[in-house]
Amino acid sequence: MPRNHRKTIKKTVSYIAGFKYCFEKNIPLSNIKIMHIFPSMRCNQRCKMCFQSDFSREMPRYYYMEKLIPVYPYLKLVIFQGGEPTIVPEVKELMEFLNTRYPRIKLGIMTNGYFFDDFWINKFVKYGKFVSFSINAASKETYNSIVQNGNWEKVNLNIKKFVDIKTRDNSNVSVWASFVVLNDNIHELSKFILFCNGLGVNKIRFFYSGRLLPKNRSIIEDELRKARILEKELTDIEIDGLDFFEFREFNKRFFSNCPFPFNEISIEVNGRVSFCCHFGETIGNLNFNSIEKIWNSLVAKKYRALFKKRDYRYCSGYCDPYYNKKNGIFYGQ
Ligand SMILES: C[S@@+](CC[C@H](N)C(=O)[O-])C[C@H]1O[C@@H](n2cnc3c(N)ncnc32)[C@H](O)[C@@H]1O
Ligand code: SF4
Repeated sequence: MPRNHRKTIKKTVSYIAGFKYCFEKNIPLSNIKIMHIFPSMRCNQRCKMCFQSDFSREMPRYYYMEKLIPVYPYLKLVIFQGGEPTIVPEVKELMEFLNTRYPRIKLGIMTNGYFFDDFWINKFVKYGKFVSFSINAASKETYNSIVQNGNWEKVNLNIKKFVDIKTRDNSNVSVWASFVVLNDNIHELSKFILFCNGLGVNKIRFFYSGRLLPKNRSIIEDELRKARILEKELTDIEIDGLDFFEFREFNKRFFSNCPFPFNEISIEVNGRVSFCCHFGETIGNLNFNSIEKIWNSLVAKKYRALFKKRDYRYCSGYCDPYYNKKNGIFYGQ
């Protein structure tokens, strides 16, 4: 049989098979507790490993001021991603809108820290659930080898100021620091834990880029061993992502359930809707459908059914369901 005929038959079969997901239960919109939003892809920095190919796209305002309104009353947390949210005026506008209209919603942000000035410090001390600083290094030299247009001293000062003010004001906001493990910084993996502990960070998250994983096995083994020792000793700091590294490097498997497809959505700059930013597939697009339709679309139901069977084939990389650490860790395939 010619190849393109086989392809058409395969596509038709999978299309018809997809209809079985019609019978999956609808999940009410009120289940959505966390929303990730990518208001802009603009960024003041250029990091070596950044997966973004576009640094200019902006989210149309009507997505978050109109199309997402039905979700806001149920949310507990909105997480600003990007791009770099601190350089986007529309992020300030949306935060103001949420704080005024939905004061129950807490805020989270992923930032490179460069422009994390008094405005952001005060906002997050008051309304924040967490601030995740992308640092990626434990020394200025390594930082400079990864981050273009960054400023090691400035970022460090901003984090220190944030920690001081949050402590002074007795705020519950959590301070996170992230480190994408690369050839350039693998030698500082364990040092990063000590460095963050000194800064007053509450939680460290190690991330990985499939295409840029470090190669030197003896350094990896040594750093992982030292990191595990520190993890036991430093009980005040939470460390996520080492399991995933061990899974990747030494095939130490770990299993759990991911809750995201049932209570979380991610809204990308172009209107694409997904369950989270590590989930490679789209469940719909705000340009063509309402959020209610997208949340219970046939594809959303299909992916939920896969997740229920712990089939994570569409997930990429490590992820951290932060509100359910004990049961929530899962791996991508
Ligand atoms: C793309 S950035 C956007 C937010 C902000 N500009 C920042 O750097 O935190 C979101 C997160 O993705 C991480 N990241 C960047 N490139 C990555 C890659 N290739 N693999 C895994 N994580 C990556 C960053 O370190 C950061 O923690
Ligand atoms: S700061 Fe964030 S968005 Fe900007 S280049 Fe680095 S990882 Fe990418």
